[in-house]
Amino acid sequence: MYDAGKIIIGLLIFAGFMTFPLWYNGGKAAPIPEPKVLTKGKCVEDTAYMRAAHMQLLNEWRDQALRDGNREYVNHRGEKVWISLQNTCMKCHSNKDEFCDRCHTYAEVKPYCWDCHYTPKESKKWASTEGNS
Ligand code: HEC
Ligand code: HEC
Ligand code: HEC
Repeated sequence: MYDAGKIIIGLLIFAGFMTFPLWYNGGKAAPIPEPKVLTKGKCVEDTAYMRAAHMQLLNEWRDQALRDGNREYVNHRGEKVWISLQNTCMKCHSNKDEFCDRCHTYAEVKPYCWDCHYTPKESKKWASTEGNS
């Protein structure tokens, strides 16, 4: 009895390991999604830096733009970048749902920025209305 039980448990564990990739991907614990990048240009800063620190960078941008009224950011490559969430970040990352949102959903963060800032779709809508009038 004892040995048979041990064998069954052993088999169950073995089966679990063998099928692990199947149920692991099927369940909620899916691998970190690959954010889809559409543009070929270079990001404002290096990818690794952006991945780790884009939230701090956006805060810095907001402070610099609003407190100092200075919208010129000089990046680590020494290039000048125009400070604008909509017209700089979202111009390259216009696929917000497949880029920003895919990661944020996974990380369970919900930036409240879009309460006020236009998403790329909204600004497109706005631009086309403007163009028609
Ligand atoms: C000129 C186009 C361009 C602009 C402007 C730009 N990005 Fe990027 N961004 C890219 C590209 C291209 C990559 C991917 C680079 C790579 O795959 O190595 C990237 C990567 C990233 C990543 C890392 C993605 C990952 O794979 O981990 C984040 C986060 C990000 N950008 C956020 C932003 C934010 C926030 C802004 C504005 C402050 C911004 N980007 C402005 C082109 C841009
Ligand atoms: C590679 C994955 C990834 C991509 C791509 C990404 N983010 Fe994030 N973002 C995160 C993670 C993870 C956090 C939470 C970080 C933390 O809490 O320290 C975050 C947090 C933020 C925050 C701060 C939110 C808060 O409530 O504190 C802002 C703002 C933000 N992201 C903006 C953007 C924008 C805009 C884009 C698209 C241009 C973007 N992110 C793309 C992973 C990503
Ligand atoms: C309550 C409304 C509101 C919310 C929420 C909000 N912003 Fe803003 N933000 C503004 C206004 C208004 C300006 C000034 C726009 C101008 O002067 O053109 C601004 C300016 C900025 C700027 C500098 C200029 C620009 O055009 O991009 C950045 C960067 C910025 N916000 C980032 C963020 C980020 C990141 C979040 C989310 C974490 C956020 N904001 C949430 C209202 C808001």
